[in-house]
Amino acid sequence: MTGEKKKPWGGRFTGELSGIGEKISASIDCDARLYRQDIRGSMAHAKMLRRIGILSEKELKDILAGLSGIEKEIEAGTFTFSRSLEDIHMNIEAALTERVGDAGRKLHTARSRNDQVALDTRLYIRDESAGIRGLIKSMIGVLISQAEKNADVVMPGYTHLQVAQPVLFAHHMLAYAWGLLRDAGRLDAAVRSCGELPLGSGALAGLNYPVDRDFVRGELGLDGIARNSMDAVSDRDFVLDFCYFAAVCGVRLSRLCEELVLWSSAEFGFVRLSDSVTTGSSIMPQKRNPDIAELVRGKSGRLAGNLSALITILKGLPMAYNRDLQEDKERLFDSMDTIRLALAGMIETLSTMTVNAARMKESVYRNFSTATDIADYLVRKGVPFRKSHEIVGNIVRSCEESGTDFFTMKAADFRNFFPDFDDDITDVVDPAQSIERKISPGGTSKKEVMAQIEDLKKRIR
Ligand code: ARG
Repeated sequence: MTGEKKKPWGGRFTGELSGIGEKISASIDCDARLYRQDIRGSMAHAKMLRRIGILSEKELKDILAGLSGIEKEIEAGTFTFSRSLEDIHMNIEAALTERVGDAGRKLHTARSRNDQVALDTRLYIRDESAGIRGLIKSMIGVLISQAEKNADVVMPGYTHLQVAQPVLFAHHMLAYAWGLLRDAGRLDAAVRSCGELPLGSGALAGLNYPVDRDFVRGELGLDGIARNSMDAVSDRDFVLDFCYFAAVCGVRLSRLCEELVLWSSAEFGFVRLSDSVTTGSSIMPQKRNPDIAELVRGKSGRLAGNLSALITILKGLPMAYNRDLQEDKERLFDSMDTIRLALAGMIETLSTMTVNAARMKESVYRNFSTATDIADYLVRKGVPFRKSHEIVGNIVRSCEESGTDFFTMKAADFRNFFPDFDDDITDVVDPAQSIERKISPGGTSKKEVMAQIEDLKKRIR
């Protein structure tokens, strides 16, 4: 970072921006990461300026060579940014002018930083989203392989965090996979909202040049052209869309993390998280803490916060560009970095996690988890459901009073509560068999769960 550099609007000013003014105004520490998109946009713009006769062939050549030289320097870490040039757009333009003189001074013809930054940010989201989509798919893949590795493991399914009904551990893992698939859809929607070209809108009103916007659109591989120049420079829906995707996905990861924290506790003991995602205590020698899961859970707060900050920033803004909009990037970049980190953390956590099937089984064979199956059994014998519900309720209460469970009851014991129980009631009570009766599409029977896996695999291909 270097000190004072001349501002492009110097002609109109006699005084200097104060130190604090510059500190508030400069965004280069944050938006330098848009350099690739800024250069790509400038190259497309320069080619268009050549087409409409504003640049000569030589000037275009100099500009393109100058821009790629700058890109290489930034990549190599040898480029010197200047805070007094505020942002990435002016830093690159000033460096270009230093290199190619007047050709560089012509590049900003028919362009404003307002349409320029709107373009760069859109391109950035489009570029970065492919990697994030890849992480979501990898995480779905890891959930699927945990499901396949533990295909027969039965665990208690919960409602209100109280044991409800037996489910396959695989079914529980896949529940998150379906949510992640929807997150990928939300990410795709965010990318679609970046599809229109804002460049060619100028500061807000359009341009005094017959710019060829469709040429620029084609050069950049965008889907269309923003049809209203004021909308184009003031719209940040696409940033909101991305941050919304990240917030929803973050909440999903957070909920899964909460389960992993619970499951890895001594009280549950359902899973063991690997050393690669746990840490010790500086005072208690015995501790193995699930810090990575806790931190991913914690980071989801930032993702929700970024979305909320952005909505608040946008809320009172009149048409068209307002400088407040510069505040979008820190929130956007933080959401991107955070969701990437969180997804990668989950991939590591889940792929190295081992499952304690015996502990899950213990819990599922202890907590009246098949009470509903007994009630349904009586329904098949012609007992109205409300009545069978009450009969089974009596059985549970009586077991609780005597400190037992119905898993150890004989058929004759069941008949003490209602005469219609046959000898096969002891099969009905068995959690493993309960699972196989969940034959409804989307249910937890092994056949249905295997079908889910096939379906998911096709969707992430
Ligand atoms: N750094 C600015 C931003 O991110 C670029 C646009 C500046 N436009 C302006 N009229 N000052 O929004």
